[in-house]
Amino acid sequence: MTSGRDIFSTLHNHLASRSIEKTIKKLRDDIRRHDELYYLHENPEISDREYDALIEQLREFENQHPELITPDSPTQRVAGRPAEGFPEFVHRVPMLSLDNSYNIDELRAFDERCRKLGDGKSPDYVAELKIDGLSLSVHYDDGVFVRGVTRGDGFRGEDVTLNVRTIRSIPLKLNEKAASIAPEIEVRGECYLGLKIFERINAEREDAGEARFANPRNAASGTMRQLDPSITARRRLEMFAYDVIACQRKAFATHWDALNWAEKAGFRVNENRKLCKSIDEVIYFCNRMEAKRDDLGYEIDGVVVKVNSTALQEQFGATGKAPRWAIAYKYAARQATTRVNDIVVQVGRTGALTPVAMLDPVPLSGVTVSRSTLHNEEEIERLGLKIGDYVLIERGGDVIPKVVKVIESKRTGKEKKFRMPTVCPVCGGNVSRPEGEAVSRCIAADCSAQLIGLLLHFASRRAMRIEGLGFALAEQLIEKKMVSDVADLYSLTLDDLASLERMAKKSASNVLSQIEASKSRDPANLIYGLGVRHVGERTAGILARHFGSLERLGDATVEQLDDIHEIGLTMAESIHDWFADSGNKELCARLRKAGVRTELAEQPQKKVDERFAGKVFVLTGTLPSMTRDEARELIEARGGRVTGSVSKKTDFVLAGADPGSKLDKANELGVSVIDEAEFKKMLG
Ligand code: IVH
Repeated sequence: MTSGRDIFSTLHNHLASRSIEKTIKKLRDDIRRHDELYYLHENPEISDREYDALIEQLREFENQHPELITPDSPTQRVAGRPAEGFPEFVHRVPMLSLDNSYNIDELRAFDERCRKLGDGKSPDYVAELKIDGLSLSVHYDDGVFVRGVTRGDGFRGEDVTLNVRTIRSIPLKLNEKAASIAPEIEVRGECYLGLKIFERINAEREDAGEARFANPRNAASGTMRQLDPSITARRRLEMFAYDVIACQRKAFATHWDALNWAEKAGFRVNENRKLCKSIDEVIYFCNRMEAKRDDLGYEIDGVVVKVNSTALQEQFGATGKAPRWAIAYKYAARQATTRVNDIVVQVGRTGALTPVAMLDPVPLSGVTVSRSTLHNEEEIERLGLKIGDYVLIERGGDVIPKVVKVIESKRTGKEKKFRMPTVCPVCGGNVSRPEGEAVSRCIAADCSAQLIGLLLHFASRRAMRIEGLGFALAEQLIEKKMVSDVADLYSLTLDDLASLERMAKKSASNVLSQIEASKSRDPANLIYGLGVRHVGERTAGILARHFGSLERLGDATVEQLDDIHEIGLTMAESIHDWFADSGNKELCARLRKAGVRTELAEQPQKKVDERFAGKVFVLTGTLPSMTRDEARELIEARGGRVTGSVSKKTDFVLAGADPGSKLDKANELGVSVIDEAEFKKMLG
């Protein structure tokens, strides 16, 4: 007899399997839609990582319910499909894709598998950059270029010969020696667009009222699929070669040899490649390249690791879509989708109103992102962004995340249009956006948001370095009317500070001694701290050294300022206007009266030190006894310069612990590398 419980359980199972069927169908539909957006419209809505996660979810459901697998499921084929408009070409050797790994453990697991498949020993590997573009196969008959084909679905691609002809880094004829290896040669590689060209293309598209490409890969793919080759030619596609096939077989005994042949034959092969004796060397390469990722000038999304021996490659073979002898090690994704819950407006020290998108927190290349600047009203208009929209966001290097585009298909109709406030959201003062400018500004002279911004800037490390003067303190000082400009800081007493909230006597006295100590900062720090428009840290240093005092700078004419090599007319006018203002004149006088140093102690020429004068330094890593800022000051005070990246013009790299890629670059270029001890010797 069937018990009530059994009936319930059967019904439950039935309902459960119906709902799994539904879930699978929904996943498949979603994936197909994303395939279409990606491959046919070059306009993805989700990041690769998110796409992979969808496929993985589907695969898991299908593994649990193999009876629900259908031949047309996205898990059953190699992704991609030939677009219309180009003749189809059937690849003579299928263009496989790669399995992915996302962390070191997964890389080690790959190494384990390779050992098991081989003779128990870890094979040699070649580690190469995984260029984020589109794969391309180029064919040569008797050394002459005959055809270029996209990957398509891995079996059939599009014949894009006319477009490939326009790519200058693909030779139209191989030299005789290179061609002699076989009558039919196929070279495979990754086609991409450099970041500068990508920016140019997007700017042009914007001017033409067209939508921007979301990323360089989509732009490269869109460019390759142009039916008019003259457009492709203008866009400067490039290719890095990564494989060589001769008469449908691997051309060389090792992959390393194949890459070297390709280079000699006239292809571009990425210089960042390494023949590794162990997985540890591979891991080192992966980490090193991740640190270099932002200096390459093109996008990479990871490293490809390949077994070097062709014989072993053949022995290992492939699963349906990917070889067992290679794996992609993917770096953290830089794009993600999330929702804009609100747009708030911040007021900076120059009065600029900056709209900021408040996001549903989302992990992105190792950090959780919950806000993203939208710059100004024009940017919001350009994006067509509304409050409540889903957006694709992107983080490049250490740059703040930005909204790349709105995902219109996710709109519900409940999204709200954003309007820039017509009065300052902090002080209620008037807001002005002059003709031709993108930025709206609060023009009230007594706006507390501007004053808070200015105090924080004045107190910042590179200006007057008043530690302990943070947002909460600045806000209270202004609210209690103790401070209405930066000079007022110097009349604060211990009692004033101790009377504030969350301010114990000890902290009050610390802040006070910090304020006192700031009086003897270099005038360059003071000039920077005043927050004159267009005057950054470097310009402030130039002005201080040129004029020797705040007073002489204040008396300078526009012409005198403009005559200084590094100072242009806009900057000269801005400096002159600031010092001509009677309020600012009075402010400078009060600072001087309070005992703030406004004169350089000695004339600059006397301070210049032979060993430093005109020398270019790059600082990297953690120094044992000083911060990089302190080292920088010591160098600049002696007439040296500090720049951010190593080049042939660099004289010294001052390296501390964990120096990163700058040290590699210095070694590569033969630049002198010194440690803190040697640096101190130089200082005398
Ligand atoms: S080897 C069977 N090497 O990554 C091995 N691929 O996710 C096939 N890619 O379709 C590829 N840089 O478009 C290889 N150095 C590189 C690569 C690379 C980028 C792309 C390629 C491939 C995709 C797989």
